[in-house]
Amino acid sequence: VTQVLKADASPEKRLFISLITRDISLIAAVLDLIDNSINAAVQPVSQRLLTASDYHDFYQDMRIKPSVDIRIRIGPDRVEIEDTAQGISAETARTQVFKFGTTAERGPVDDRLSVYGIGLKRAIFKLGNRVKILSEHVAGGFDLDLNVSEWERTPQEHWEIDISRRSPAKQGETGTRIEVSELYEPTAQRINDGKFVGQLREAISKTYDFYLARLVNVFVDGVPVDGAHVQISTNRTSEDFDLGDVSCSVNAGIGTPEGKEYRDRTSGWFVFCNGRTVVSADKSTLTGWGTGGLGIFQPKHRPFLGTVFFVSADAQQLPWTTTKSDINEDSAIWQEAKRLMVSVGRTITEFLDSRYKDDGTAVASADLRSIAGGSEHVMSAAAASGRVFAPPPRSASNSVTIQYKAKVTDVRRVAKYLGRPSMGGAEVGRHTFDHFLRNEVGEG
Ligand SMILES: Nc1ncnc2c1ncn2[C@@H]1O[C@H](COP(=O)(O)OP(=O)(O)OP(=O)(O)O)[C@@H](O)[C@H]1O
Ligand SMILES: [Mg+2]
Repeated sequence: VTQVLKADASPEKRLFISLITRDISLIAAVLDLIDNSINAAVQPVSQRLLTASDYHDFYQDMRIKPSVDIRIRIGPDRVEIEDTAQGISAETARTQVFKFGTTAERGPVDDRLSVYGIGLKRAIFKLGNRVKILSEHVAGGFDLDLNVSEWERTPQEHWEIDISRRSPAKQGETGTRIEVSELYEPTAQRINDGKFVGQLREAISKTYDFYLARLVNVFVDGVPVDGAHVQISTNRTSEDFDLGDVSCSVNAGIGTPEGKEYRDRTSGWFVFCNGRTVVSADKSTLTGWGTGGLGIFQPKHRPFLGTVFFVSADAQQLPWTTTKSDINEDSAIWQEAKRLMVSVGRTITEFLDSRYKDDGTAVASADLRSIAGGSEHVMSAAAASGRVFAPPPRSASNSVTIQYKAKVTDVRRVAKYLGRPSMGGAEVGRHTFDHFLRNEVGEG
């Protein structure tokens, strides 16, 4: 006779909290809150952002001006984020916002940056123990004042958090404010390490380059954050493909130098999902370097700039991880993209490699600019248009470099013999070659 028992398999709040906060950095946690504000800001225009070319057109539309402000304040003992989007209704707060994960009913409708149903919880639990949320919505928003450790200690059959309903807000006075205080020790240390705010600003600038230009203004401690404005050459190779409900376009070209130099942070691959930067300036095996595909990234590849643009109205299908700051490498769509990245990317690496070959085209840095043929914002490359990178003609290859070693004393003697003791090695070489050519071989 078998006796059927019910083994306890219920979740522990403690486990949840530690699991979801463990693998996310503090910066990524703050970005998760910004993602939510931007996702809310996108909702009214989400039907204009369905395909890759929609993102391109939206970016190009100069009539669109940022409509939502997001203000972040980082204090020694609190973190605050406030937005002027449409807010959260008490009903949505009651049924969706605090659930861990999304319910099956929530269809892919207006959300572009909200995917897994975890970001908000993860961010607040990462930051501190005391959470206050106030949201104004035209249908009536809500208030919340949560003591996380108390909540964690309270056993509940059905996990719940107390919220109170607010009266309806006027159009134009909506928005959400989240404040976390009683910061945890590691959080407080990181925030006060003297670098955090600067790094946060830089992360925002890189991550929301697209949205900062067209949809939102972001302020950190009152100071506006500018988009990174990464630029790619108009002379580039591009290819695109669709898989399921995701469209993808891959571009490789040349970046823009600052002064005379091609900088590290604008060099490598940039990957975007629904306009949000997921990976920037990557030169690792993640994006195909050093794996036989593109070869190891070397200093001569500094001018390389590639972009991969994934777009889907169903954000679940995009190849990002739950933190949205990394790629789900096993996804079929990423595998396919990577294949293209190698073939598209090679048109540029082969050209850059050839600059350093004797028989190839010798291209000085200054000439790279003219080969680039102008530059435009990487978002302009969101919609690929079947371009093919055109390397410069190989006519310059009618000259070669000759190098050899000679004793310093011998070079000096030749220089002295020629009556110019201060002549350098290269000049002595050129002179003696010319002399031989003229007097022994004869002019051609
Ligand atoms: N600032 C905000 N304005 C409007 N709605 C918001 C805001 N922040 C959160 N929400 C609502 O709360 C929900 C839950 O947010 P949460 O970040 O936990 O998950 P998600 O955004 O759906 O998914 P992800 O795990 O990808 O972030 C969102 O789907 C959205 O409906
Ligand atoms: Mg979110």
